[in-house]
Amino acid sequence: MRWEASGVVLDPWNGSGTTTLAAQHLGFQSIGVDRNPVANVIARLRSDAGRCTGDIKRPPKPRTRDTERFRRDPLAAWFDAEAIARIRDWHRVIKKLDVDLYTIGMVALFRAVRSLTKSFEGSNPTWVKRAKEESSLIYLDYSEVDLAVEREIYFVSSRAAEHPKYSAPITLIGGDSSALPIADERIDVVLTSPPYLTRIDYAVAYTRELAILGIDISSDRRLRSGLMGTTLIRREDSLDLSALGGAGKSLLERIAQHDSKASSGYYLKQARQYLDDLTAGFDQLNRVCKRKATVHLVIQDSFYKDVPVPLAEICIEESRARGWDLELQERFEVRRSLTALNTAARAYKKGDVEESVITLRRG
Ligand SMILES: C[S@@+](CC[C@H](N)C(=O)[O-])C[C@H]1O[C@@H](n2cnc3c(N)ncnc32)[C@H](O)[C@@H]1O
Repeated sequence: MRWEASGVVLDPWNGSGTTTLAAQHLGFQSIGVDRNPVANVIARLRSDAGRCTGDIKRPPKPRTRDTERFRRDPLAAWFDAEAIARIRDWHRVIKKLDVDLYTIGMVALFRAVRSLTKSFEGSNPTWVKRAKEESSLIYLDYSEVDLAVEREIYFVSSRAAEHPKYSAPITLIGGDSSALPIADERIDVVLTSPPYLTRIDYAVAYTRELAILGIDISSDRRLRSGLMGTTLIRREDSLDLSALGGAGKSLLERIAQHDSKASSGYYLKQARQYLDDLTAGFDQLNRVCKRKATVHLVIQDSFYKDVPVPLAEICIEESRARGWDLELQERFEVRRSLTALNTAARAYKKGDVEESVITLRRG
């Protein structure tokens, strides 16, 4: 399809890039922002990699080398030094490729490491364990690593080759929704789903992929603490309670008054931090959207223990406070919500969870 539709589509929490991909299919220019670098690699693969040609060549056979330094590698949480050395050989080769082949190579490496470390996954797929002692590490020689990576390269490139090719440009940016690197009044349409207040930590969910990129979230807290919905508390938040709508305020009050442990301490702080990030995101959307721009949000309500978290209502309030109009709200019942992944929270009786699709228009 030729790139012909006018207007720029934005997703400030782009994740694996469903919005940017859909915009491209429809011929719209689009911008996807995500603070997690892994998300942007995956979004790039889904959008562009079908255009690539060429092979990813296996790294030369390793000579004897000092594997000692790999013990400090972020991948040392799961692999012994020999296996890490070979994964790093592959990473070095992939880093030198042009962007499309790089994307295929990186996603293949992500998949290979995921499948090799499957035994470290628990019942909660967003929480991966680490080896407690040396004997539980994964020991592999270089040819076993090669086999796993090459199998995934084959899989990912054959899938990418099936992608239809579109010409509308996608810009993927590693950035923060509270400080969008986008000029004022640039955006015509926002289509997004903000991270929810479900205590699902996106950085933790991608620990292994981030380790491949050289980020060890257990020692470097910057990425994890910067993500919305994180379970790490940064510092005092700057939430302006007087500007917060009734649904947001009442949620904070109900959490503060909940009789379970740490509700009035840690959990209240976490919810405040989340609302601080959410409202900062709305301020940014208000800044980057053109007048009369449309904003489509997909939002799931959730629960804090047995307290409903009416996120859709909170978002509508925040939009109205910025002079936007609600044009449409459609509600759907959700069968399998993200809240259900949080095993500790299952002890509380909850009602059904609703998902809303909301269309707003900037004033
Ligand atoms: C795909 S979206 C939302 C999906 C769904 N609403 C949920 O909560 O699971 C979530 C994305 O937002 C990203 N994200 C979290 N905090 C962010 C921030 N401060 N700035 C930009 N992106 C962020 C995460 O990395 C993740 O990819």
